[in-house]
Amino acid sequence: RHKNSYHCSQSSFKWLKNREEAMTIFYYFAPLLLFRLAISVCVSDIHISRFRDPKRVPDFEKFCSETIDIIQPVLVLVTGDLTDAKTKDKLGSEQIEVEWQTYQLILKRSRVMEKTKWIDIKGNHDSFNIPHLDSIQNYYRRYSAWHKDGSFHYVHRTPFGNYSFICVDATLSPGPKRPYNFFGILNMSQMEELSSLATESHHSNQTIWFGHYPTSTIISSSSGVRMVMSSATAYLCGHLHTLGGLMPVLHSRHPQGTLELELGDWMENRKYRILAFDHDLLSFADLNFEEWPAVLITNPKSLLYSSSTHEPLVKILHSTHIRILVFSPSFITSVKVSIDGVHLGDAHHVSGPLYVLKWNPQNYSEGLHHIDVTVQDAIGKSSTQGHTFAVNENLSLRFGFLSSLILLTDHYILARILFGLTVLVQITLLLIFRYLRKPTLKGPPGLVMLTSFSLHVLSKTNTFYYSVLILSLYTALGPWFIGEVIDGQMGICFSFGVIVGGHFLQGSLTFVVGILQMIFFNLPLMAYLCWCLLLRCQGHSFCSHIRHVRHFLAVPIHLTMLLLLAWQIYSCYFLQRTYGTLAFFLSPMKTWLSGNWLCDLLCDPG
Ligand SMILES: *[C@@H]1O[C@H](CO)[C@@H](O)[C@H](O)[C@H]1NC(C)=O
Repeated sequence: RHKNSYHCSQSSFKWLKNREEAMTIFYYFAPLLLFRLAISVCVSDIHISRFRDPKRVPDFEKFCSETIDIIQPVLVLVTGDLTDAKTKDKLGSEQIEVEWQTYQLILKRSRVMEKTKWIDIKGNHDSFNIPHLDSIQNYYRRYSAWHKDGSFHYVHRTPFGNYSFICVDATLSPGPKRPYNFFGILNMSQMEELSSLATESHHSNQTIWFGHYPTSTIISSSSGVRMVMSSATAYLCGHLHTLGGLMPVLHSRHPQGTLELELGDWMENRKYRILAFDHDLLSFADLNFEEWPAVLITNPKSLLYSSSTHEPLVKILHSTHIRILVFSPSFITSVKVSIDGVHLGDAHHVSGPLYVLKWNPQNYSEGLHHIDVTVQDAIGKSSTQGHTFAVNENLSLRFGFLSSLILLTDHYILARILFGLTVLVQITLLLIFRYLRKPTLKGPPGLVMLTSFSLHVLSKTNTFYYSVLILSLYTALGPWFIGEVIDGQMGICFSFGVIVGGHFLQGSLTFVVGILQMIFFNLPLMAYLCWCLLLRCQGHSFCSHIRHVRHFLAVPIHLTMLLLLAWQIYSCYFLQRTYGTLAFFLSPMKTWLSGNWLCDLLCDPG
């Protein structure tokens, strides 16, 4: 029987050099096969950098050798941003060959590709500044383990079932420099390809999708990327890191039931994930590098992450053992299990990482329960893991509001709407006050009356009216700048997208930049003009009331405007650093505007 299982599983062990080695490994895995258990590891956003954090590389090498040796996964998924690809000043971006060589050297020295199936995919950083996929700059092709661009379907075959892993490659091609490739794009044909991969995977016991971008940062046509992957148990991604520490855990569930599990970065936080299919139930633990012992309770699995449409949850009710995976470089002295605070006993070691304890699930068939496992190792380190579970299939738990908001909102649509609204508000204000009759000024001047009065003056003075109107329309429609969006390739940037190398890349982050431009420049500029006009209306009946206001308000207002101007000038500098000197000069939106304004300010400081 064992021989048969070995033959079936040969494909997953094809890296084995000789038969003897094969047999040792097989014996190691044999009980796991009987327990129908497959273990894999994920890591994301490594950002190997030539300039920053010299510990990142040796730590990663240690991960590839020591951590992988301890966990012995059948598969490792690296979900993008293998290299940092940023210039020394952090503003520019380009593919740096030595970063890629370092990455490849780590894979070679640690021999990790001989120990496990290593699947590394591209992130947005790995596609900065690449004119086309065949370009020599596309070092991913040359130095990564996987080599091939585009989405694909990988099947991990075991004697007890097949497990599909489908990669979503939403990186841009051509790949503009930062920051305009923060969002991924899937066009019509890419979506069709994904949908045929999804059909292929229906034969597998379980399907996992993975990619660099969370679905909220992928622009997709037709039914949307979440719909295409609706048959998957989970979608694994990276990209958002931990939002600078704000969201250490970013997990949620699509309306279709698929889990979306963002994994924190290796770059700063040294995060990785252990993932296991135990009797076709998915469990995972997000861990920190070198924090041992690592504990993963696979049965009963966590209720929060259970999906009755994707998993045979009834197996929990029919199980005979509580199953726990424990990983540690040192000897494990005890694995204590308790449910609802009642100690059930010590789980005993079966093989490899697997510990089990007999239980009777019927005792827990009603309602919610909490399992806790405390693991102690020989060098005195311990770790406690726990979660809520239910044996009854009909219960479910909800994810946190914030992480759902971040993972399930289509941010590019939100940004597009908000940008459109801010532009609309400004134009509407101008139009209304241009054609509204001037109010008669009676009574004490309140804030509303002063605002409306100044808006009347602004909108009815042609110079101001047309300048502000054109500025607003231009922000929405005009080209913002022309520059080297990719080295050697001129591109034009609009609010609604970027044209480069004959391709139109749909707008996404551009709308966010547009919103910032509106909120921190166009609207304040209009307000500032109103304020200046109000100050100049000397001789008007109620202007004497304003005079005493002027003194204590004038300084902060001018200062604020100066600050906003400084921001504009900084963004000109940013433009020069990211897209070249030409972009600096050919940017009506930024340089010309700031220049104009600076002149105005210097010539007429009143
Ligand atoms: C995988 O699917 C096959 C066919 O449906 C089934 O016989 C097998 O038990 C499944 N594997 C597991 C681990 O449940």
